[in-house]
Amino acid sequence: MDETRLLSGVPLGDDLLAERTLRPQRLEEFVGQKKVVRNLEVFIRAARERRESLDHVLLFGPPGLGKTTLAHIIGNEMGVAVRVTAGPALEKAGDLAAILTNLEAGDVLFVDEIHRLGPTVEELLYPAVEDFKLDLVIGHGPAARTMEIPLPPFTLVGATTRAGLITKPLFARFGIVHRLDFYGVEELTEILERSAARLGIEIDQAGARELAARSRGTPRIANRLLRRVRDFAQVAGDGYVDLAAARRALDQLEVDELGFDEVDRKILGTLIEHYGGGPAGIQALAAAVGEDRGTLEDLYEPYLIQEGFLQRTPRGRVATPRAYQHLGYDAPPGQNRSLF
Ligand SMILES: Nc1ncnc2c1ncn2[C@@H]1O[C@H](COP(=O)(O)OP(=O)(O)O)[C@@H](O)[C@H]1O
Ligand SMILES: [Mg+2]
Repeated sequence: MDETRLLSGVPLGDDLLAERTLRPQRLEEFVGQKKVVRNLEVFIRAARERRESLDHVLLFGPPGLGKTTLAHIIGNEMGVAVRVTAGPALEKAGDLAAILTNLEAGDVLFVDEIHRLGPTVEELLYPAVEDFKLDLVIGHGPAARTMEIPLPPFTLVGATTRAGLITKPLFARFGIVHRLDFYGVEELTEILERSAARLGIEIDQAGARELAARSRGTPRIANRLLRRVRDFAQVAGDGYVDLAAARRALDQLEVDELGFDEVDRKILGTLIEHYGGGPAGIQALAAAVGEDRGTLEDLYEPYLIQEGFLQRTPRGRVATPRAYQHLGYDAPPGQNRSLF
């Protein structure tokens, strides 16, 4: 496995299998995101009592925080099937039509990366989610006519890392919109202890806390680090993950005490060394770091910004004094200071 990508929020290799094993199935097992959970509980219960399908749900937030997990939980709690697809997979209107006409009453249609739907597919979706019907055009030219096909009521659950890229008309069609936030150390510790139990990994509370503190607020990263740390503990010791074993493994993996990996440090280091701390345009920064812009924006920036290491200004990205401090640079004299 490419260790520089250890912290990335994108599922890689053995993650996919592990994620299926570790994914909570019910709302009560879903740790954290209290407000989201409380709201969903009410809406699901109300819809069930009325024997209606749940209103359409949009979940947004950085990768690895539980959007896909929640989509499946919604299906489980409603007692319905979940059909899974993704924006980029729906190339033609016909692709979406085929899925919609196969839904059963109440089903959840989960569309991941919903900001990447093409315009024709999106337009077909509007009447489908609003009035549960499909407006299909049959034939070409003067002989073309539209046909209206009724659909069973269903729940669209959309997920996106980029709420800002969702068109207004699509956004307006979701009755329930929730943003997932980064998790706190306590919550991640709880998630790690459950994952360890499920995977048969022996870990003590201090070990779990150490992993939690270095997981960038992200359950996917926490679970991934857990599995890597187990490998180290197994090879170097008896497999038991205590504080010392966790620290040793995390240091070997070059995950620092704030949970930053090589890419995080490269972003901040490049900004400081090559751009005098910034501002630097995202495109130039991405090129200098050797990552694509989307990866930087979706995966790395949100946490660096939330933790106060990076600022997004109209003129570009700026490294904060915390970034200088963390990487061991003297804070710069001159203009950048005024931005802080
Ligand atoms: N609130 C949570 N409680 C427990 N585990 C979680 C939670 N959120 C996410 N996870 C774990 O993290 C993994 C990644 O979550 P996922 O739903 O795939 O994230 P997203 O779709 O937002 O990228 C899941 O497999 C699950 O094991
Ligand atoms: Mg997902």
